[in-house]
Amino acid sequence: MKKINYQGKSYDCKDQESVLDTLIRHGAKSMHACKKGLCHTCLLRSPSQEVPGIAQLGLRPSLIELGYFRACQCLPTASMTVEPPRDGDLLSRALVFRKEVVAPNVIRLLLDPATQMYYHSGQFINIKGGDGTLRSYSLASVPYDDYCLEIHVRLVPNGRVSQWIFNELKEGDVVEFQGPLGGCYYFTGEPDDNMLMIASNTGLGTLLGIARDALKSEHKGEIHLYHGCHDPQELYMTDALRSLAEEYANFHFIQCASGENIPPHITAGRIPDIAFYHHKNLEGWRVYLAGNPSMVYEAEKSAEKFGANPVHIHTDPFEDLN
Ligand SMILES: Cc1cc2nc3c(=O)[nH]c(=O)nc-3n(C[C@H](O)[C@H](O)[C@H](O)COP(=O)(O)OP(=O)(O)OC[C@H]3O[C@@H](n4cnc5c(N)ncnc54)[C@H](O)[C@@H]3O)c2cc1C
Ligand code: FES
Repeated sequence: MKKINYQGKSYDCKDQESVLDTLIRHGAKSMHACKKGLCHTCLLRSPSQEVPGIAQLGLRPSLIELGYFRACQCLPTASMTVEPPRDGDLLSRALVFRKEVVAPNVIRLLLDPATQMYYHSGQFINIKGGDGTLRSYSLASVPYDDYCLEIHVRLVPNGRVSQWIFNELKEGDVVEFQGPLGGCYYFTGEPDDNMLMIASNTGLGTLLGIARDALKSEHKGEIHLYHGCHDPQELYMTDALRSLAEEYANFHFIQCASGENIPPHITAGRIPDIAFYHHKNLEGWRVYLAGNPSMVYEAEKSAEKFGANPVHIHTDPFEDLN
């Protein structure tokens, strides 16, 4: 039987079992969140052995050279010796410049990075919480326009990192983070394509960043952004969306809420239902979807049904711990 050697112990690894699942099954402490290859919070190192290529997809070449791999995507073909990540290889630091409550359950954080960071709006960073847990938050800032990194954090009941950000993190504190990561961002080259964007809750951060990047890159096609929540009080950044619509004639936004007591200026209903009711022919469109994973996967299927080319559907599902 294959063995995973980790921190002085040796664990049996079943056939078709990932390194991460082996460690979890044996009760070994190993960081993770999505278990789907998206968040990169599960990175481990195997400096002396070959790692299956799929486990290193999307990693920076320098990390691949150091033997890093996504433990949730690594199905070992032979016994492996693996090590926890070294903070210096992965983590950068940033000062909390501004912490602002923008809805009863949403914080907007502006982070001033210690070193210049190259990223695309809509990519994400993994913030290290007070207990060392890493969680992913998408970048709403535009690198060539904003000095700080901007993230929007939704409070999750009993959530380790979101509760820490809400209750403990203060302006002036220093946070550690990993990234930038992820491939959901604005692609230049087709400035006349129309764009449909659908965000639930703090998925707005991802799509606001991408929309601003597109508009500032002189995107000429129409951009329709739908932002939806259950409770209308959870809709946020209305002023920023309104100013963008005033500044750019090709930017349009609609706010939706699916709960009770919806005020007249908010559209009542579920965002994918409303967005696809308005847009039934997506041939030649680009589609961006962010936020709640079940909304994202449902809307992805609908976008294909209404004619969007799968290559032009970009998704940022906020997969959580499961
Ligand atoms: C690529 C990516 C980008 C992301 N971007 C953002 C972002 O920009 N803004 C943002 O707010 N979040 C974002 N997330 C989600 C975020 O990373 C965390 O999952 C979330 O903040 C919860 O972490 P936590 O440590 O507070 O909760 P945990 O301690 O991980 O979870 C506590 C409990 O709550 C459940 N839970 C976790 N998340 C949710 C949820 N969203 N709704 C309901 N129940 C939940 C868990 O299953 C668990 O039972 C993103 C996730 C990914 C993978
Ligand atoms: S990439 Fe492995 S847990 Fe998210």
